[in-house]
Formats: sequence, structure tokens, C-alpha cells
Amino acid sequence: MKKYVPILAAVLLTACTTQVRHAGGPVYLDRSYSVEERVADALPRLTTEEKVAMTHAQSKFSSPGVPRLGIPEVWCTDGPHGIRPEVLWDEWDQAGWTNDSCTAFPALSCLAATWDRDMSLLFGRSIGQEARYRKKDILLGPGINIARTPLNGRNFEYMGEDPFLAGQMVVPYVRGVQENGVAACVKHFAVNNQETRRTATNSVVDDRTLYEIYLPAFKAAVKDGGAWAVMGSYNLYNGQFNCHNKRLLLDILKGEWGFDGVVVSDWGGCRDTDEAIANGLDLEYGTWTNGLRGAASDSYRNYHLADPYLERLSDGRAGTKELDDKASRILRTIFRTSMSSEPHWGSFNSPEHYEAARKIAAAGTVLLKNGGALPLKVPDGGRLVVLGENAVKKMVVGGGSSNLKTKYEITPLEALQEAFPNASVEWERAYVGDTSTSYNKVDTGQDLSDPRSPEQLLSDALAKVRRADAVVFIGGLNKSANQDNESTDKLDIVLPYGQDEVIETLAEAVPSLIVVNISGSPVAMPWADKVDAIVQGWYGGSETGHALADVLTGAVNPSGRLPFTFPRSVADGPLKTERQYPGIQEEGKKWWQEYYDEGVFVGYRWYASKDIPVLFPFGHGLSYTSFSYADARLSKSSVTGAGNFDTESGSEIVLTVDVKVSNTGGYDGAEVVQVYIAPPAGGVERPAKELRGFEKVTIKAGETARVSVSLPRSAFSRFDAQAHRWVVDPGSWTVLIGSSSEDIRCSLPLEIR
Ligand code: BGC
Repeated sequence: MKKYVPILAAVLLTACTTQVRHAGGPVYLDRSYSVEERVADALPRLTTEEKVAMTHAQSKFSSPGVPRLGIPEVWCTDGPHGIRPEVLWDEWDQAGWTNDSCTAFPALSCLAATWDRDMSLLFGRSIGQEARYRKKDILLGPGINIARTPLNGRNFEYMGEDPFLAGQMVVPYVRGVQENGVAACVKHFAVNNQETRRTATNSVVDDRTLYEIYLPAFKAAVKDGGAWAVMGSYNLYNGQFNCHNKRLLLDILKGEWGFDGVVVSDWGGCRDTDEAIANGLDLEYGTWTNGLRGAASDSYRNYHLADPYLERLSDGRAGTKELDDKASRILRTIFRTSMSSEPHWGSFNSPEHYEAARKIAAAGTVLLKNGGALPLKVPDGGRLVVLGENAVKKMVVGGGSSNLKTKYEITPLEALQEAFPNASVEWERAYVGDTSTSYNKVDTGQDLSDPRSPEQLLSDALAKVRRADAVVFIGGLNKSANQDNESTDKLDIVLPYGQDEVIETLAEAVPSLIVVNISGSPVAMPWADKVDAIVQGWYGGSETGHALADVLTGAVNPSGRLPFTFPRSVADGPLKTERQYPGIQEEGKKWWQEYYDEGVFVGYRWYASKDIPVLFPFGHGLSYTSFSYADARLSKSSVTGAGNFDTESGSEIVLTVDVKVSNTGGYDGAEVVQVYIAPPAGGVERPAKELRGFEKVTIKAGETARVSVSLPRSAFSRFDAQAHRWVVDPGSWTVLIGSSSEDIRCSLPLEIR
């Protein structure tokens, strides 16, 4: 009997606890139960109609809950870098709220340029708090599509050209958002790398390229970040639209990766009812006010997963298995967010959020070149001349769905005036670009009209720079059509509005011209050799001006690194044919076909492998101090580990790379130690180098730090498409340690057997 006592006690205790927990009402409402227990309890209580109602939108950004059971609606919001202003229930027009001006954080290309996981966590936490305060359950971001071409209009919303960098940066963002009981919705899944004909193009990509380049960041977000939501993209893959793509959603996302969250369609991305039912779409959102198939008294009932779904359920064409799976996933999302066991209140427009925005924007700013003009020196009583439209143009507005309304936006000119209170800081426009000041009826209130001719603008600028103590030109792109903007791609990477000529002319007149390029994607700089200093700024959000001034003045020592290559021209890149970009029409095929013929040779993988000189390489970024590398070591110079392995076992660490980094200059600063691997000669063709580790480390002037980077076995793997598994090739490898993909400071041999 004695041995049964503890068991009896445990049973009684469980029974008692269950009873106590039950006392408050049904299990699904009791936050002390696990999410899975609550889902299991709630699901059978729902009628078929209630389940179907949950699977599609009821307004532009919400879908119904189950009012009868006290289960709330699901509310979504854009986007990757701030909480979108409220729109009307069934229109894209502004709702006209006066309390929805958010903190605008930097665009994700800037976050990626920090190469700093802590910044990503800070970003995720802060934006998650803003989303929660605004009662949003799903944040439609981050975007992590790979920058396959510098022309993609949405590169500014994404995290660069390298899957490892994007994968490392997305994880803390997702965790930070979700700490607030807000689901991060990673987008746009997958192989969605251009805006041109984005809803009519089939991406034809081989499996090796898919697994090595286009999936890893999504996999990291799901498996390491634990993302609760994923958004399907507009394009097709394998001839099937991605919002109901069997291979991507069922086989890979929910199958191989075990994703238990909710798949959301991109807005209007669902195109077929039967596929949507069968292939893993859980929640359908839309764009057209009149529903997807034309006007009806209640348009949302026209959605693929609305009445057409109910019809199929009632006549037996659809079964309840898929519906229960969709409803469970939506319930899980609700129990993880608005009905989460932990209360989250969030916060909005807090001083901490603006501080975070400034810190991240400064940390992502990249010093591309410096002949000594930076940090800026302007004597008291001296003259700083600031030129260029982007010194004053507010760019938090615009760009498509990531358009924001912010409480304030500090322009670079305002910040520089603030930074040099005892100098005269004067501005001249030098060129006129885009004079629009509003987007989707969010207006900056600026008047950017200017009647002057280009010649007049330039001669006024030249007159202004005479006898200046320092001259900074701030130009680049903006968020207009065919620039950094959703739904159109760029036509070239040449700077628009004749800026190249303006900069060339100024460079002749000004001995040490400083150029700041603001953009979310690479631009060509034919004048790079003629100017003293070049800074890459980004769309920095509310605090963009302060962040830029922090770096220009030296208040912050620049430590950003490029998340994508700046090529000399588009023609130098890997996309050579129309079939690669922007796609071609083929006989008998309904959709445009786009062939990823370049395979894994994307970004620096292409330039480095083909020895093509670039303007600024991936990973490049300078500092006001200098760093030297010494005493690089590998924990082992020879390891066993060649052969096949499944992806899961690749996380065991086999190697550590160690290097001594010394700050040899006069400023405290941060260095990004980058570790690339170079494959053995022969065998399957692989890129000349691939990023497999990095660490950002702050070192005081004159001090030395030892930096360690772990290399798991998977770092050496490539995807064997035929066998559908990862494989490590034996042979003589090289581990490269550097300050950019081209500035390699140490090479260590490694034998893999
Ligand atoms: C974009 C998404 C966005 C959605 C909702 C779509 O057009 O592609 O990124 O989240 O609209 O605004």
C-alpha cells in the first residue's frame, strides 16, 4: 500500500488543482491552462460557421473571433518598422484618428546594417510594445526576402542579401515582438524577390538554391525565433500561388519545420478556394473593397475562405480536417496574443522608443569612405553648408504598406543645426527631386515646391559653398515610384534627378566634399573617388536626422556594415537575362516565368566568385578608429564530419574561431568580426566564400579584445538536392576572418575528413 500513497496523493492533488482551475469557467478562458489545452477545449465548442468565419477577413485588417464564446477578433497591422495609422473599416483611406502617430523605427535594411543582434532585440521589443498598446495581435513583419537584385523596390524593407545575416538578425526581432503578446508575421514566404509583376510571376528556382539562399532566414525565424505567423507571398512557385503553395506551406513550413502558427495570405494573395483549403492557408486577407470576385451585399463573404468554403463543406467537397487545423491555429494565435496568460499593456511613443529608434539608426549608419573630413569639424562662428533634398525631405511617409504617420520626424538639417548651435548651418537644395509630401493621405505638412531650374539650383548651391568650413551633400533616393517603394522596382541604380552631375560639379568646387546617400538599396557612385567622405544613411524613421548627425559629428562612432553589395552597375550583377529578371512569357504558360539561373550566386557570392570589382563590398563599413587583427586560431585544424547529416544534428558546435582585435586608433569604437568559409577546390561548384559567423564587439581606444565565433557543422554544409539532405564535403577548407567580405585579415586552413 505504501508505494501507492504518493501516486494517490498526486492524483488527488491533480484533481484538486483541476477543480480549482475549473472553478473560473471553461478551460479555454482560464489563462492558467496551457495554450494547447485551451485550444483543445475551445475547438469543439465552435460551429462550422464560426470556424469558417475566423478564417477570413471582416475588414481591411481584422478577422472575426467568436463573440458568443468571448473569443476576440484578430487585429493585424503593418508593418516592419512602425505601427501603421488606422484606416477605415473597409477602405484604404485614413480613419482620421488623432492618436495613431507612432514611433517610426528605421527601415529593416538599416537594422540589418547594424549587424547587432542586441539592436534587433531592442527593435523587436520596442515595436512589439507599440503594437500591443494599439491592440494589434499580428505585426505584419519583419520582411526577410533576400536582395537578389538591387532593383527590387522593397529591398529597404528587408534584411539584405545574405541568408545567414538575415537569419541571425530576424530571430531577436521576432522574440522581442512576441514578448509582448504580439505575433510577428514573417513575410513574404517565399522566393518573392521583385515587385515587377509580383502577382503574376512564377519563380523557377532549383532546390539547392531554395534551401541555401531563400529559405534559411525563414527557417531561422520559425525554428529559432519561434515566429507565430508567416505571410505567404503574392508570386507563384512551382506554378502555384504561394499563399496556398503545397510545397512551401505544407511540405516545408508545416512539415519539415513543424510550424504550428498561422499562415496569413498577403492582401489579396489568395487566388483559389480549393488550394487555399487544402494547402495550408489559415487566414485570408484582402485588398479589394468589393471582395475578390466583384460586388456583393457583404463583400467579405465572397472571399475564398468564406461562402465558397462553406459551400464546399456542405456539399462534401471539403472536409472538416483542414478546417479544424485552420481554426486551431487561429485559436492558438489568439491564446498567444490577445488572450495570452500574461497581461501585456504595451506602450506607445515613449521616450524610450524614440531613443531606441535613434540608437538603431545610428548603429546602422555606414561610413563608406573617409579621407579625413569626418567627423565634422565646424568652428564656433563658422559655416556649415548642407546641400540636397534629402536633408529636409521627410521620408517616414511613403513606400507602400510600410507608410507611417509619426509624431515627429527630425530631418538631417534640423539635427545638424541643433548639433552646431554656435555655427551658421545653411541649406541649399542643389536639385529638385520629388516634391510630394503625402502618401495615402498622411501628410508631412511640408511645402517642397521649388520653381528654380536645375541650372539655377546648382549655381545657387555653388554660390553657397564658397568660404564654407564644411560642406555636406545629403541626397540619394526616396520612396517614390521606381525607387524604394512597394509595387514598383527601380529601373537602374543610377541616382535620379541628375544628382551625379550635381555631385561631380560640387566635388570640383569643394575641396573635401562629404556625401550622404540616403536609400534602402545600393546606388552607383561614379564620383566616389572625387569626394572626401561618403556615408550610407537609410530611412531612419522619426530620429533619422539625430542619428545621422550623431555619426557625422562623431558623437557616435560609426559601426554599421553593408548588408548588401554596392555594385558599380546593375550589369555587373548575376542577373543577365530577361528570363532571370524581370521574367518572360512562355507559350502555353499563363504566368510570367522567372528563372533563378544564377543559382546560389547571389550578391557577394557572385562578385567574389567571379572576381568582379564592386563599389563597396558586402560587410564593408569604416570607423573613426582603426582595428587590427592578430593571433587568429581555430580550435582544431582538422576535424571529422564530412558526409550527410540531417539539418537538426548540424547545431552541435565543432569549431571555435578566435582572434585578437585591437583598437589602434584614437576613438572607442565597435568592430564587426566576420567569418567566412571558403570551400575545398574541385567538387560541386560553390561560392568563393560564404558568411557563417559574425560578432560585433565594442573596444575602447588602445585596448584589445579576444573575439570568438562558433562554427557548427552546418556552417560547412551545402544542400544536396537529389538526396534532399545537407552534406559536408571533405577536403581542405579555409576559414576567413575579416572586416568585410573583401577585407580578409586572417586565413586559417581547416581539413575536414
Ligand atoms: C503587402 C504586405 C502588407 C499588406 C497589408 C501587401 O500589399 O505586400 O507586405 O503587409 O499589403 O498592408
